[in-house]
Formats: sequence, C-alpha cells, structure tokens
Amino acid sequence: MKRTKIKDILRNDATNYQVNVKGWVRSFRNNQFIALNDGSCMGNIQVVISLDTDAEIVKQINNGASVSVDGTVIASMGKGQKVEVKADQITIMGVCDPEQFPLQLKNKPSLEYLREIAHLRFRTNTFGAVFRVRHTLAYAVHKFFNDRGFVYLHTPIITASDAEGAGEMFRVSTLPPDNPPRNEDGTINYKEDFFGRCTNLTVSGQLEAELGAMAFSEVYTFGPTFRAENSNTARHLAEFWMIEPEVAFNDITDNMDLAEDFIRYIIGYAMEHNREDLEFLAQRLADEEKQKPLNERSELGLIEKLEFVLNNKFERITYTEAIQILRDSPAYKKKKFQYDVTWGIDMQSEHERYLVEKHFKKPVIVTGYPKDIKAFYMRMNDDGKTVAAMDILAPGIGEIVGGSQREERLDMLTKRMEEMHIPAEEMFWYLDTRRFGTVPHAGFGLGFERMVLFVTGMTNIRDVIPFPRTPKNAEF
Ligand code: 4AD
Ligand code: MG
Repeated sequence: MKRTKIKDILRNDATNYQVNVKGWVRSFRNNQFIALNDGSCMGNIQVVISLDTDAEIVKQINNGASVSVDGTVIASMGKGQKVEVKADQITIMGVCDPEQFPLQLKNKPSLEYLREIAHLRFRTNTFGAVFRVRHTLAYAVHKFFNDRGFVYLHTPIITASDAEGAGEMFRVSTLPPDNPPRNEDGTINYKEDFFGRCTNLTVSGQLEAELGAMAFSEVYTFGPTFRAENSNTARHLAEFWMIEPEVAFNDITDNMDLAEDFIRYIIGYAMEHNREDLEFLAQRLADEEKQKPLNERSELGLIEKLEFVLNNKFERITYTEAIQILRDSPAYKKKKFQYDVTWGIDMQSEHERYLVEKHFKKPVIVTGYPKDIKAFYMRMNDDGKTVAAMDILAPGIGEIVGGSQREERLDMLTKRMEEMHIPAEEMFWYLDTRRFGTVPHAGFGLGFERMVLFVTGMTNIRDVIPFPRTPKNAEF
C-alpha cells in the first residue's frame, strides 16, 4: 500500500479508511500507544497496536526506531487527537537501541548538546519546526522575486575577486600545501595552480549580479557564501546563505522599499504556511524568556513580534542621526557602552541593538555611512564624505541586510578603487558595465540565517542552519 503522510491524515477529519504510515517512534506507552512522526509536520499520529502483537516486535518499538504500519484511520477516543491509526500490521524497519540512542539518553537535551549530534537533531520538535520554517522562507524568497519578474542568476562560488574587499576569504587551490611551486622571490606561484591564478570561495555574488542587472534589469542570487572571519559569535557563520537582488534604475530609496517589501513578504508567507511550527517556537521562546530576569525579557512574544513587523513601517534614519541618538542616550551618558561613539566609527552590535531594541523598538534602516567604513562600490553622496549605503538592523539580531546604491560613474568608481588599492586591471569586467551603457542601480544582501533566526526566535545562528560551519568546527 502507498504511504500516506502523517500531515495529510491529521489535516483530514475523515475516518474509516485504510492507510500505510511510516516514521520514527517518538514515544511508546502502555505497550499499546505509539506516537509516530515522519517530519511532514510537527504533530505525531497516534498508532494503537493490538495487545496481542508479537512480543518480539513490541520489544523493538523503542524511541527512535523506524516502523511501517498498515491500519485503519479511526476517530480517537483519547484526548489530544481527533484521529488515530488502529494498526493491523506493524513492521520494524530499523531498530534503535535505547541504551545508545543519544536523544533517549538526555531527558531534555539542550540546544548545545543537540548541536553535537546535528545528524539526529532534525528529529526533535524544535529543529523540526526550525527547518520546516527555513524551507518555507527559502521557497518564499524565490516566489517573491519570481512573481515580480526577477531573473534568478547563479553567480560563481569560486572566484578570483574579493567583492567586499575585506580579505576574509577561503583559498581554493590544488597546489600541494607542503611544497607549492614558488616564484624567484619565494612567493607561491599561482600560475601553476588549477585556475592559473589565486582563487577563493565567494564572499558575495553581488559584482556578478550587477552584470546581470545591466542586461535583465532585475536579478537576484541566492547561494552559499563563505567568510573566513574569525568571529565566534551567535550571529556569524563561516558558510552562510545570502540573497542578493540587484536592480537597474533603482536608487537608494527604491532599494529600501524593495528590502522592506521583501522582508514583510517572506515573514508573512511563513506566518501563513507554518503557523503550527511558529506557535510551537513561540511557546519555546516564551518558556526560555521566563528563565531571564524581568528587565531582560522581550516585551513581545514571537508571533506578536512578527505581526508587528508586518504591520509597521521600518524606521529610516541616517548614520549621522544614529550617532547623535547614541551620543544623546542615557546608555552613552552613563558609560554603558563598551565602545566609544563618535562620527566615523563602524557601529558595534551594542550600538545597533540600542537603536532597534531600546530607542525605536522596531527595525531600522540606516543610510549614509562614512565612505571609509564601506565597500568601494557604494555610490558617493554629494557631501563627498558619506556613501549611499543602507543597513537594516533588526531587534535581537542587529544587521540583517547590507546594501547600497552602486557607484555607476566610471570616473568616481576608478578613483575610489585607486584610493582603496583595488587593482582596476583585474576588475575590467566589472568596470565594463560602467563603460558600456551604465545606469544607476542598487541592491542589497540579506543574510538568510539571520532572517531565519529572526522568524524562529532562536538565539544562536548555529541552530538555524542544518550543518553549521564555524571556526574550529566542520563536523558532519
Ligand atoms: O553586509 P554584507 O557584507 O554585504 C554584502 O556582502 C553585499 N555584497 C550585499 C549586497 O549589497 N549585494 O553582507 C550582507 C548580509 C549581512 O547584512 C548579514 O545579514 C549577512 O549577510 N552576513 C552574515 N551572516 C552570517 N554569517 C556571517 N559571517 C555573515 N556576514 C554577513
Ligand atoms: Mg554589512
């Protein structure tokens, strides 16, 4: 008999029909009631086995074991479920030794512990919910852009350029690490390397996306991104996924509007399609909050927070205004910030969080950053000091989006590149967009995991990516 997904049985009030269900045992009580989960939804189906089931089989119905059940869907007498499956036949597909099963050994395994068994954590309610929501958000990203006529452009993962100019790249090489060919001056001879030059994993698909925008007008990328920054924080991954739309003819205001619409759309989509998962995660977060001292608890629950974002415009301020707000703040006056605040600083996360969590209590878009702390490709403002950058800061997360209007004027761009020691010859393909029919354009990058953090209410970025890569950790 063809397998029926547990989700489809639970969603349907119908009874008295035959099904086959397969899944993993979540619990087994009174030698009779199995809570079976197949990952299709949060809920388990209750399987009731006959009391005269073969004792050898009953012995193997342990938490974590996989079973196949043929039976009849009937109305449930018990509390907590409308329907259940009365088993006619049960087969053990894969046994699970309760003495060794990691999820069995801990009563309520911590998120940290589960991170060490990332291959099994998907089978918990929390991670089941997180990764179903992650899936829905990814789908919503494609739907949003597709519905608006954007072309999905696959930008390269291996590249020779450092888009962000931050130099935090993982090298890609096939040269023997212990004895690479060398030039006369002792440096490594990359001409002998696979690509005949020094290459690395991409830190951003933006520069290539700009080439696409100069032909299709509207493109986006959505792919893995790699940064070798040694930031062991709850917000940084060495491998993360980024969504980067790039739009010809857009200015910085259009860019902000697009980012706001986009963020609202994907949150709304998850609220509509993953209600059960989000309600579970909201409860999880509420329980966690109860452990905190009163003054550190957030005012809104997860669902209320998401609804708030759906229903309120983001605050828009300039960097200069942000610095002024910080300097005028009680936190600054009482010397509560670890880092000083003066015009020109790259705001620390304590500053960003003050702005969104204490001052505005909503997402904030900051524009007009000093040119010296931003990438070479951002458009110079008329003041000659600031660029048309925009960062979106979200409560509990900090920076979730970084973007800008791009410098479309060839002379201004080459001047900036010179100042920042970016070799123009190697970037001829990028500069060609400014030589052959340049237009104003703008784009941004949304860190997908930071978005998943925001929507799920999880607090550590390692808990929203299936297999986290962080400094000193590339297990599984
Ligand atoms: O601000 P970033 O560095 O911007 C860019 O890469 C631009 N090229 C984007 C563009 O304009 N097309 O990164 C964009 C976003 C950040 O706002 C953050 O959400 C996320 O990517 N991000 C990270 N997420 C997880 N781990 C890291 N190490 C991250 N670094 C950046
Ligand atoms: Mg940034």
